[in-house]
Amino acid sequence: MQLSGLLKTNRELSAFADDVREGLSQQGQKQLPCQYFYDDVGSALYEAITVLPEYGLTRADTRLIRRLAPELAERFEVPVAVAELGSGTGAKTWRILESLARRAPVAYYPIDLSASALARCAQEMAAFADVHPIAESYFNGLRQAVCARLPGQSLLVLFLGSTIGNFVRIDAQDFLHQVRACLMPGDALLLGTDLVKPLARLLPAYDDPAGVTAAFNRNLLARINRELDGNFALRNFAHEVRWNRLHRRIEMHLRSLKTQRVSIRAAGFECELRKDETIWTESCHKFHAEEVREMAVAAGFDCPAQWLDETWAFTESLLTA
Ligand code: AVJ
Repeated sequence: MQLSGLLKTNRELSAFADDVREGLSQQGQKQLPCQYFYDDVGSALYEAITVLPEYGLTRADTRLIRRLAPELAERFEVPVAVAELGSGTGAKTWRILESLARRAPVAYYPIDLSASALARCAQEMAAFADVHPIAESYFNGLRQAVCARLPGQSLLVLFLGSTIGNFVRIDAQDFLHQVRACLMPGDALLLGTDLVKPLARLLPAYDDPAGVTAAFNRNLLARINRELDGNFALRNFAHEVRWNRLHRRIEMHLRSLKTQRVSIRAAGFECELRKDETIWTESCHKFHAEEVREMAVAAGFDCPAQWLDETWAFTESLLTA
């Protein structure tokens, strides 16, 4: 049995229990934090999502990175260190490392909470860079990478795949501020953002007919059952996707198909869900390209370059300190 994706330490488990208890005991809208989607099952389901015909996001991200990698390498004074926030296995990153490594050896700091993803990443990126995996949260990891940089080395931070879309907008702005505060002049952030597009494309990307995204969503309840001794009956919950026009975001919910009680024993917690009550599990904010430039400037960056995919509205923005 593969245990690598399970929360292992008591501290992590009790943080998970606390977050679940807090999210499900809300008076109004019940919520669960989307970071818990990615156990081993959830990560495998997300990988399946990235190859669905309806989900163009990852293919657009990958196409753009292939296109911009040589150009990006030209812009940097060597030597360069690269730190990637939420690297996963680094599947898209190798092209950037490869382009940079043509000019001088590269130090690569992949930062991710998943030890199994980091191990795969370290193995696969070793051909292009000197890899120093950091199993930490974004900013703890980034601070470590910043401390490890050598004099004269410029730092390129990568935040790809529109993960920034999971933050509510003020938190996204604050996140950019915090990254900027870690950087020195000459350093940069490459930021991937999914753009606003017609609902006829957006909704199927999060509600695919094969039901992979529905499985990804329900797996959050399955994970609570596995790790916190919960008794969610997954068949009593429907996957629901909404477009919130005001906030320009996709919202994923799990709708309770009947009135039911659930107990989560390791969290010492029981709750009742009414018929048609939902648990809000994720927000995926969508951007306008010029909005990304404005956010960058407000955070103290310049934005000297932006690349746009024509097939699936998505941008990579180079933000320089
Ligand atoms: C990993 C946050 C970029 O927002 O599209 C995909 C997550 N959720 N399908 C996204 C996700 C449902 C994804 N991000």
